Amino acid sequence: MGCINTTQADPVAGRFYLGLAVAPEHQRKGYAWEAGILLLGYMFGERRYQKAQAYVHDFNEVSQAGMLAFGATLEGRLRRHDFFAGRYHDNLIFGLTAEEFFAAHGSTGPQVSG
Ligand SMILES: CC(C)(COP(=O)(O)OP(=O)(O)OC[C@H]1O[C@@H](n2cnc3c(N)ncnc32)[C@H](O)[C@@H]1OP(=O)(O)O)[C@@H](O)C(=O)NCCC(=O)NCCS
Repeated sequence: MGCINTTQADPVAGRFYLGLAVAPEHQRKGYAWEAGILLLGYMFGERRYQKAQAYVHDFNEVSQAGMLAFGATLEGRLRRHDFFAGRYHDNLIFGLTAEEFFAAHGSTGPQVSG
């Protein structure tokens, strides 16, 4: 069980935010990777969005590594952005352009012939 979603999709700027979660008992099976590649390929290749962004907390090393593996770049750090579990946490912003995605993963769109 898990989910992947886009939020704040702005068709004029061509930007959207990406969110991912996989239930603990289903993690480490490649589901987040597969879902992320599918969603990014759809948004860039079919819907003409040109940039994906994601917020990742400073302690979330798995998601930071995942965003970098998708081809994203760390673009910013919102310091002391959230408070929970007794302390403040920074929130990191990752950005990925369509060109960077296709360079890293190739086109995932349909092959059109003729
Ligand atoms: C982040 C999350 C979505 C990853 O889901 P997942 O299905 O387990 O990820 P995958 O199996 O596709 O793994 C993707 C990569 O991360 C690595 N990875 C996944 N979980 C890991 C862990 N606990 N420790 C170290 N590496 C891990 C995998 O090894 C894989 O890298 P690889 O292909 O080089 O081996 C999941 O851990 C989760 O839901 N966490 C809680 C919610 C969250 O943090 N969401 C993101 C908020 S920005």
